[in-house]
Amino acid sequence: MDMANEYNSSEMAIEERIRNLLTEMTLEEKTGQLNQVQWNGWEAFDALADDVRAGRVGSVINLVDRAAVDALQTIARQESRHGIPLLIGRDVIHGFHTVMPLPLAQASSWNPELVRDCARISAQEAAVTGVNWTFAPMIDVSRDPRWGRVAESFGEDPYLTSVLGAAMIDGYQTSDPASPDTILACAKHFAGYGASEGGRDYNSTNIPPNEMRNVHLPPFKAAVEAGVATFMTSFGDIDGVPASGNEWLLTDVLREEWSFDGMVVSDWESITQLCTHGMCEDEVDAALVAAQAGVDMDMVGGLYSAHLPHLCESGEISMDRIDQLVGNILRTKIRAGLIDGDRLDQHTEEPARLTALAVARQAATESCVLLRNEKDTLPLASDQISSLAVIGPMANEPAEQMGTWVFDGKSERSVTPLDAITSVLEGQAEVDFEPGLETTRSHDKTLFTRAVEAAASCDVAVLFIGEEAILSGEAHCRADITLPGAQADLVRAIRQTGKPVIGVIMAGRPLALGDVIEEFDALVYAWHGGSMSGPALADLLFGRAVPSGKLPVTFPKVSGQVPIYYGHKNTGRPPEADKVIHIDDIEKGAPQTSLGMTSFLLDAGYEPLFPFGFGLSYTQFAYSDLHIDRHEMTEKEMAIVTATVINTGTRTASEITQLYIRDRVARITRPVRELKAFRRQELAPGESVQVEFQLSVNELAYYHRDGSFQAEPGDFDIWVGGDSRADLHTSLRLLKA
Ligand code: GLC
Repeated sequence: MDMANEYNSSEMAIEERIRNLLTEMTLEEKTGQLNQVQWNGWEAFDALADDVRAGRVGSVINLVDRAAVDALQTIARQESRHGIPLLIGRDVIHGFHTVMPLPLAQASSWNPELVRDCARISAQEAAVTGVNWTFAPMIDVSRDPRWGRVAESFGEDPYLTSVLGAAMIDGYQTSDPASPDTILACAKHFAGYGASEGGRDYNSTNIPPNEMRNVHLPPFKAAVEAGVATFMTSFGDIDGVPASGNEWLLTDVLREEWSFDGMVVSDWESITQLCTHGMCEDEVDAALVAAQAGVDMDMVGGLYSAHLPHLCESGEISMDRIDQLVGNILRTKIRAGLIDGDRLDQHTEEPARLTALAVARQAATESCVLLRNEKDTLPLASDQISSLAVIGPMANEPAEQMGTWVFDGKSERSVTPLDAITSVLEGQAEVDFEPGLETTRSHDKTLFTRAVEAAASCDVAVLFIGEEAILSGEAHCRADITLPGAQADLVRAIRQTGKPVIGVIMAGRPLALGDVIEEFDALVYAWHGGSMSGPALADLLFGRAVPSGKLPVTFPKVSGQVPIYYGHKNTGRPPEADKVIHIDDIEKGAPQTSLGMTSFLLDAGYEPLFPFGFGLSYTQFAYSDLHIDRHEMTEKEMAIVTATVINTGTRTASEITQLYIRDRVARITRPVRELKAFRRQELAPGESVQVEFQLSVNELAYYHRDGSFQAEPGDFDIWVGGDSRADLHTSLRLLKA
């Protein structure tokens, strides 16, 4: 039997198995499968066991005690009428016991294989505890760094988010999601959560159809194509219809357009919140609306098990609809090897600690972005240093460096920058640590004196500043995204010593550094780099590794520029550098029209501080010979774009070459640039390589309001380079069919 038939027969077998189970299940057992409850400790075990035994529970969240999982799964399999095991869900977002860099940090690596490896290790560590489902990847396109959850995202670009989201799904699930060392992935938060108005979490999202189709939905479509097992609805309302009650999103798009046949879970009590939003009258109404819209499982709200039985008995919701919801969950459990599979009879081992830490270290290294390096201040020659001052409130914080969403992270596994630098310099140089501030939020400068003295008396000073983990993540949004507390003053105080100011910023978002960037001679953006942030930074600071990270988000100069992102529209009056008048330069009594009538801010211009895709190295790369094999193409043809990249510096390093396009004319205006491909490669000094990209009509097309995906004939710009300002240019005309 060929694979296709085998697949068909196994899929047919699954559907038959589902039909048989549904035939045998009572209405209460069916709605029990739609019910996810939270683990409330051993003291509540007996009540939970009774519910599992009676078939009133389909999933348990936040249970990582293997003994409890085994006990509950045994009850589900052996003592409930149909022996249907539980989904055990946990937020394994960027690591489990070993904490990987934030997803936003991992995105800075532009390395799908590395993102996959991080998820693989995380899944293996989590699966040992009995967890079989994670609520990741979070693939909300995030263009507002005031929003705390930008930390969990892959940044502002739909294509980069799509590629890395698919990689993370593969790392969690692999091609065999029934394997006991995998966990089911969950594409969240569907959809448009990253557009929460004002950067305020849980706020309304007013996303026009064109932006929904071309910015926010593509990563979720890519997740379906990557085989993601589950989806999670977002908290937000989308143009007045909350996601958990949004039939257009959950049925028309997800099921009918995309043919997704996995399961959809609500977010935490987000079905209940349909009442709070003001969409539903009461919990009965909310249960009905969510079930009709297409939410399969109620995360800890209890509304489905409480109200769907009598809504079905009264005919307000059909048994067919209930069966569809239950069928999606049963299908997911069968594919996960829980029903009929032997997954639960196999216990797996944690990956070797050294292996996990090695992946974490590589990820932390590749996630760091070198933003500034005046006069090649970095790397430091460790053998020429006799004393080094480690300064700042983030230098020795094993828990803070792990970042947000680290329920199971073991801070004792963390190696801090202070630990790592001390280890590197042991026996050859003195290391003097002065926090300078109690926390990143402190305004008390009492400790400045000691920090300044340490910097003045040492050969080199390195500052570790940024944000504590609690300043980003869910519900942790900031209006002013500059360095918190008196950290900017600490930087200035250290600069007064005359020593080179080497900064490392550890944060969960891009910060607005416009007022302090010039104080740094060198600046490395490390995000929250996880367990091995310290050794990774030591390797980079002392040149044992070379920075290769590129920004997955635009960095504003000031908070007021937000939202600011590279894939913006041209507008009818695009800003022109020579027409940007700074507020300080306006002549008194200047006529109204003298300031230039284009799209810019009087007190911040229109340029970001650092653009999307930007990142320096300890070497330099030059681009040349951009070539396209045709300047005209039909929809059935493919264009080959090549360019030469050369390492013109003195160190072997990796470069991430990026390809951007612009659709010059379209009936729905298109962004001035769109990332369509990237390639990472290592080059030795003097080495050059020809990078090749293929452009098909798929790269030129966009989603139209009706959901159709098509390109419009006409001219396209193409750029290849090292960031979103790439200026090596060619063009391509798409001919009418
Ligand atoms: C939270 C988050 C979601 C998470 C879920 C379970 O409120 O929005 O991302 O997976 O609840 O913890």
